Amino acid sequence: MHEDTQKITDIILKAASKARRETRNESQKRHAGKSLIWPVDCTIGPGLEGAIACDSKIGYVDGSKGWLVYRGYDIFDLCAYSSYEEVSYLLLHGTLPNPEQLEVYKKKLVEYRYLNKTLRLLMGFPVEEMNAMGALRMGTILMRQEFTYKDQESGRPDFYDAISADEDSIPMETMPTGEKKAIYEFSAAKKARKRKKMLGDASGLEACYHLLAGVPTITAAISRVRQGHMAIEPDPGLSHAGNFLYMMTGKRPTRVQERIMDVALILHADHGMNASTFASMVVASTLSDIYFSIGSGIAALSGPLHGGANENVLHTLRQIGSPENVSAWVQSASEKKKKIPGFGHRVYKAYDPRARVLGPLAGYRMKYCPEEIIKLYKTADVLEKQVLKTFGHEKKIFPNVDFYSGIVYSRMGIDPSMFTPIFAVSRVAGWTARVLEYLKKNRIFRPRAMYSGDFEREYVPLEKR
Ligand code: CMC
Repeated sequence: MHEDTQKITDIILKAASKARRETRNESQKRHAGKSLIWPVDCTIGPGLEGAIACDSKIGYVDGSKGWLVYRGYDIFDLCAYSSYEEVSYLLLHGTLPNPEQLEVYKKKLVEYRYLNKTLRLLMGFPVEEMNAMGALRMGTILMRQEFTYKDQESGRPDFYDAISADEDSIPMETMPTGEKKAIYEFSAAKKARKRKKMLGDASGLEACYHLLAGVPTITAAISRVRQGHMAIEPDPGLSHAGNFLYMMTGKRPTRVQERIMDVALILHADHGMNASTFASMVVASTLSDIYFSIGSGIAALSGPLHGGANENVLHTLRQIGSPENVSAWVQSASEKKKKIPGFGHRVYKAYDPRARVLGPLAGYRMKYCPEEIIKLYKTADVLEKQVLKTFGHEKKIFPNVDFYSGIVYSRMGIDPSMFTPIFAVSRVAGWTARVLEYLKKNRIFRPRAMYSGDFEREYVPLEKR
């Protein structure tokens, strides 16, 4: 390992031993190996707190220990020794790949990085004005169109295909609107369909690979366009993290940047039945398909209580301005009962292990950073201490994964509007893995609401209201 990247590994190992030391006395809740027997007894709070929705072997969060596990492996070990390619394979397949399997898998991901048609279609929309997560969500729907011809098979016309098949042939009605039997010019699309009949199963493993490789390409392209640049061709020689950074920034990343992005992607890859994973699973459980289901995951992740918190953290730090202002700001937030972005968690009642790694990575070699980043980092450092002092120990509110990730990405020159899409780039591994697992024993999600409304109201005609 190169000297610089070894330093990143050392930071992770140090964070791991600190975590183990600090949580040594917390009891460990283990249910591994025990399958659920339905119906299951559990106490459910608002927001489905405590509800058990399914049985899974993919990942485990121990909130009181601050412990995160993917398929039995400790997150700290995966960060220290693995790569996003290995980790996403692990989540999807259940075991770490052997060298040949890894090679085949990496080739597959490289192949699917190329989404020329999807990008061309996406650029037909005002991506630079759109919410980046909205554009990403749309991108996944366009990817679906590229991957599967399911819809055309059932005889439905494909507008996207017709436009993209040949830019000079915009689909036109051959008869004026309203004429009987007006038909559209889809001949170019038909030819393209014959030529490139991928006919992928939009709910299968291949679609998961397609999404894992494609979501970074779309995210990078959105980022470029928002900065007034053209999208960049993928580089097949770079790793998943390295290529993603290259396509985002237009510069080949240093080894340290590549390694840090790789670690960030590993850290965000899966996290139990969080809102976006659940949203993806609910959609998949209707036997919709994995593209639609990942689109829902993206929508759910965008909210400020979930993945959208990372962008909010940066705005908050900028708003606070400098470390000296932290105390008064926290005091005012506390009086207004305002939730502080980047703190608290439904499951963790201990320090989030992901923040344990991202914090020191955000601060790594800080003295070489521009003044603005140094100020952000120092403000964040003081904010963490102040929040822990004000609420932390009583309410068990600690920094979560979103608190330091934005500073890590800012150091790479990435705009805050892209922080949540980067979360999606990684989380697509967890979403797809959990959807595939659930579909094996699928049952449509269909909880109930307790009706607390009226009965027997008399209908009053409109003119009498
Ligand atoms: N700042 C101040 N107080 C907080 C915070 C916070 N960030 N989070 C929770 N609390 C307090 C809350 O006011 C409540 O106090 P009380 O019992 O006196 O009313 C108590 O802690 C329990 O909070 P809750 O709202 O019942 O917790 P929840 O499980 O419903 O919500 C949360 C979890 C993550 C939505 C919430 O902590 C929050 O809004 N945090 C800020 C947004 C954020 O950082 N989200 C990212 C979550 S982690 C990564 C991800 O999922 O993307």
